[in-house]
Amino acid sequence: MIEFLKLLRVDFLIAFAAVLVSAPVIAAIDLRDYDNDLMRDLDKTVKYFEPDITAKNADAAKEDAQVLLDGFKYTEDYFAKKGADDAVEISRKGVKLISAVLASVDSNDFDAAASAARGAPDLCKSCHDIYKPRLAR
Ligand code: HEC
Repeated sequence: MIEFLKLLRVDFLIAFAAVLVSAPVIAAIDLRDYDNDLMRDLDKTVKYFEPDITAKNADAAKEDAQVLLDGFKYTEDYFAKKGADDAVEISRKGVKLISAVLASVDSNDFDAAASAARGAPDLCKSCHDIYKPRLAR
C-alpha cells in the first residue's frame, strides 16, 4: 500500500512539473530585440494585399508579397534563434503561402492568388496567439 502511494506521488510530481514547464510560453521569450517597425509594415501591407490582387494589380501585389515574404523570413530567422519551433513552423508556412501567391500572380491566376492570400492574416494571428503579449506595455 505504501509503495502504491509513493507511485501516486511520483505521478503527481511529474504531472505538476509538466504544467510548470508548459504554462509560461509567452514569458519564455525575450522580445526586446524584436522588430516591431517591421510588424507595423506587415500590418499595413497585409490589408492591401488581397485588394491589390483582386484588382489584378500585379505590380502592387508583387510589392506587397515581397514585404510579407521578407517579414515571414525575418520571423523564421528570429524565432529559430530563440528555439521556438512552433513559430518557425508558422513562419515557414507564411513563406510558402506568399511564394504560392507570387507564382499564381505570375501566371495571371488572380483567383487562386486571392484565395491563397486570404490565408495570410490567419498565420499572423496564429503566431500572435502564442507569442504576442496580450497586455499593453
Ligand atoms: C512567427 C511569429 C509572428 C508572425 C508570423 C507574425 N507576427 Fe506580428 N508579432 C509577433 C510578436 C511576438 C509580436 C510582439 C512583439 C513585442 O511585443 O515586442 C508581434 C507584434 C505585431 C504587431 C504590433 C507591433 C507594435 O506596434 O507593437 C503587429 C501590428 C503585428 N505583429 C502584425 C503582424 C502581421 C500583419 C503579420 C502577418 C503578415 C505578423 N505580425 C506575423 C509575432 C509574429
